[in-house]
Amino acid sequence: MELRTNAEQLKGEISVPGDKSISHRSIMFGAIADGRTTVSNFLLGDDCLSTISCFKKLGVHIEQQGQEVAIEGKGFEGLMESEEVLDVGNSGTTIRLLLGILAGRPFFSSLVGDQSIGKRPMTRVTKPLSIMGAKIDGRQDGKYTPLSVRGAALKGMEYTMPVASAQVKSSLLFAGLQARGTTRIIEPAKTRDHTERMIRKFGGNLKVDGKIMEVEGGQPLKGTHIHVPGDISSAAFFLVAGAILSKSEIKLKNVGLNPTRTGILDVLTEMGVDFTIEGNEEELFEPCGDMIIRSSRIKGTVIEGDMIPRLIDEIPIIALLATQAEGTTIIKDAEELKVKETNRIDTVVNELSKLGAKIEATSDGMIIYGKSSLSGGVVSSHGDHRIGMMLAIAALVCKEKVYLENSEAISVSYPTFFADLHRLMDL
Ligand code: S3P
Repeated sequence: MELRTNAEQLKGEISVPGDKSISHRSIMFGAIADGRTTVSNFLLGDDCLSTISCFKKLGVHIEQQGQEVAIEGKGFEGLMESEEVLDVGNSGTTIRLLLGILAGRPFFSSLVGDQSIGKRPMTRVTKPLSIMGAKIDGRQDGKYTPLSVRGAALKGMEYTMPVASAQVKSSLLFAGLQARGTTRIIEPAKTRDHTERMIRKFGGNLKVDGKIMEVEGGQPLKGTHIHVPGDISSAAFFLVAGAILSKSEIKLKNVGLNPTRTGILDVLTEMGVDFTIEGNEEELFEPCGDMIIRSSRIKGTVIEGDMIPRLIDEIPIIALLATQAEGTTIIKDAEELKVKETNRIDTVVNELSKLGAKIEATSDGMIIYGKSSLSGGVVSSHGDHRIGMMLAIAALVCKEKVYLENSEAISVSYPTFFADLHRLMDL
């Protein structure tokens, strides 16, 4: 598709759609809890719809009307062997968290996904789940999809995670909830804690001491109501757009502000971006508030270490921000980008280079030299939603025509992205 270029300003107010991580988990916890769970502001992105479809195939009754979803949970025991293959589409969160649930179910399941899922490492979850007692196999010795799972009676364990991944942590917490005894998980850096918060919201117990978590198996969980806050990872595209376009002022309503997800706000502050937060309701089970962003003079920075998991999904759009900053920005310790929906070090560097950015890949991140003026050209999302949206925002500051290939990938996490963007442009 042809993207809008040469934009002058973005003005107005939008509510970004519901958080992807929380939407997935609301279905999963609703399915394994006892009783009815209702969810509002559910994200209607392709990934979360894949989660609903998998749980329906596992025998869970789920009603969905727009962004309102109701799940009739019957505990872990309510899940039934599926006659069909479980297809997770493009969703790493669906497959990895589902594996933790299926690991303890006494039946057979087979899981597949799209081409990108077929390249994503599964050993990071299948190995620890096997230690707990599950029988999981797959292509190349269990590394890749298609995967088969034969659930078993699991036993608790202590596990030090080699990579900082909320998907791995969450998968093991789901397994731990079904295991005999205690499951103790130690993460190398703090990652998003939505699963921990949700265990408590559904009436369960969990001990958290910094990067160490302990959960007891066999606890009952009870259905509840979940209101999903707006996704800060979707808001990030407009935060950057507002900052780099002169004369802009955008209000983003009800954005999730969970501290394990707000690394981008620390980086915006560091880079000199002018934004404010109104009405941060920290006491909510997931904090959220409104954000106002204004065009800013931006300077380069260094992003590294424990900050990386707090903004891992925002690195593509931060890279674009850095092209419009004075000075150099260095992103380090971000090897995990190589195993996302695409190798995001390569796709960010290659696609932004095509538009004229001065950016180079390193072994664990990238270096961006600002400030560069972007020209135009033919770019591709490579089937990666966040690369597609980053390029659509990049086009706004491009002088010449920009064509985006594979733009349909954007519906994975933000199906109304272009409607929201055009609303802010046309006001
Ligand atoms: C997610 C965790 C992160 C993130 C992904 C969603 C989650 O992945 O990149 O978009 O919902 O737990 P990793 O666990 O692979 O870091």
